[in-house]
Amino acid sequence: MKALEVTASITLPDTRVAVVGDLHGNVGWAQVLARTLPSLAPDVTTMLQLGDWQMPPAETDEVFAETGIERIYVTLGNHDRWNEITPLLNRHPGAAVRVSKMTWLLPRPARLTIGGRRVLSVGGAASVDRESRIEGLTWWPDEAITDEHVAAAIAGGSADLMLTHESPAGTPVRPVQRILRTNPHGFPQSALDASASSRARVSEVWDAVRPELLMHGHLHVAGGGKTEDGRRVASFGRDTHEGNLGILDMKTLKVSAPSLAVIRGMADRWEDDYLERERRMKSVAESLHFGALDGKKPSPAATQDARDYVNGRRTLDELIEDVRRRHTRRPEDEA
Ligand SMILES: [Fe+2]
Repeated sequence: MKALEVTASITLPDTRVAVVGDLHGNVGWAQVLARTLPSLAPDVTTMLQLGDWQMPPAETDEVFAETGIERIYVTLGNHDRWNEITPLLNRHPGAAVRVSKMTWLLPRPARLTIGGRRVLSVGGAASVDRESRIEGLTWWPDEAITDEHVAAAIAGGSADLMLTHESPAGTPVRPVQRILRTNPHGFPQSALDASASSRARVSEVWDAVRPELLMHGHLHVAGGGKTEDGRRVASFGRDTHEGNLGILDMKTLKVSAPSLAVIRGMADRWEDDYLERERRMKSVAESLHFGALDGKKPSPAATQDARDYVNGRRTLDELIEDVRRRHTRRPEDEA
């Protein structure tokens, strides 16, 4: 990964943003989300991702190229490539680093302003499955949220919205409480202790900056809850599971999350529409350049003309005029 751009200040006018939970480098699932977003939220240009990102930077740009998404801010998780990320972030202390056309990795902590709302991001978490991983290869101690991260996050003052990978301790989200209570995967006590202290660190920040809403991933379960003092928490599901995608209204800080069935239905419809668009494009390209085709494939210019027509970017009259101009010499050229 290379730093293509760095910035210490992120201020966006967006009134709605997309929020995505753990992706674990699942490019196929990211494609499903990319096919959903144009119908679900065509106005949305910013994505906030809640860690365990692991997406290859160049493929990320390709996957989201046909959507309105222009920038993705990643609040890093535990299963992210810290061996590459730490040196990159350390070279630009306190700054967000852009690693692809649209992917930005956020430092710990990071402060952003979106739609006039103060946003705090604190990435990292403890891997409860670390005994099955190899240090330096599939697990890195840098994943941990440190006392320094906590102190710096608190020093920045209050926030309206907090983005983390880890859940806070004392979460009001029932499905998360259940997982923490029952340890369904049978993780060992040492890992559970590290995980509990990681949640305590998130809580320390959460209690100090008192955001209206905290959104996190990591537990791989979707759910929402509210504390007695009115702070809301939203836990996002992992890739291919319920609650992996939400649309956040920056004014109300309310999240609407389409069900898995809706996401899959929209993605399927996109595929049908895509095939129909391709069919129409081919026939338009052939009609526009009929005389010159002579059994050959339409030229790239003809394909572009057809795409513009099918997507409603140019009218047929404009295209015909353009084609006429391209294929007609002016008298002064003759001279
Ligand atoms: Fe995860």
